[in-house]
Amino acid sequence: MPVHIRAADPTDIPGVRDIARRTWAFAYRDLIPPGVQSDLVSRWYADEALRGRMERGVLLVAESGTPPALVGFVNLFRNNRVPGEVAVAAIYVLPEHERRGIGTALLREALAGMPEARRLVASVERGNAGGLAFYNSRGFEVVGETMDEVAEGVTLPTVEVARSLPWD
Ligand SMILES: CC(C)(COP(=O)(O)OP(=O)(O)OC[C@H]1O[C@@H](n2cnc3c(N)ncnc32)[C@H](O)[C@@H]1OP(=O)(O)O)[C@@H](O)C(=O)NCCC(=O)NCCS
Repeated sequence: MPVHIRAADPTDIPGVRDIARRTWAFAYRDLIPPGVQSDLVSRWYADEALRGRMERGVLLVAESGTPPALVGFVNLFRNNRVPGEVAVAAIYVLPEHERRGIGTALLREALAGMPEARRLVASVERGNAGGLAFYNSRGFEVVGETMDEVAEGVTLPTVEVARSLPWD
């Protein structure tokens, strides 16, 4: 089924939050307790937070089907302190739509609007094997490891990955 990628607008806010909620439940099922997931998604993907993600960064959505429904999104931010560096703040594709090239297409499309970008960085939980495999397959290399306290009492080992740009 064809996938269409476009810039998110404020009417997409509930759909983006729903993708985060559903994808977290799958990807972080063994890493983050459900109650903590629910609390974090509610805060990090609140209306105001998502408007900020759109205004201060790039937020693209992927939609598919008839009528079109959101199946994924990507959120990138330029690092104002490091010229040319761009960070992946979030990239999520619904579990039932994984491995169809949507994540790669979202990243490529977002970067197409940032021709000045020279380095792309991301953080991924060490226990998120699918996320690590995705970045590895897209040419990222591990550049560091940290401990990320996502919530009180929930600290996750996190892998920092990076790759140079342009993509090709
Ligand atoms: C990571 C994610 C965005 C990838 O999206 P996607 O649309 O499935 O990615 P693509 O189809 O473009 O995958 C490209 C390649 O990445 C690798 N890959 C992606 N997901 C994988 C998985 N779960 N397991 C193993 N390899 C995977 C594969 O090599 C794949 O190519 P192939 O299918 O031809 O073998 C998606 O799986 C997701 O939302 N995961 C949960 C959240 C997450 O981990 N986000 C990133 C870290 S914050």
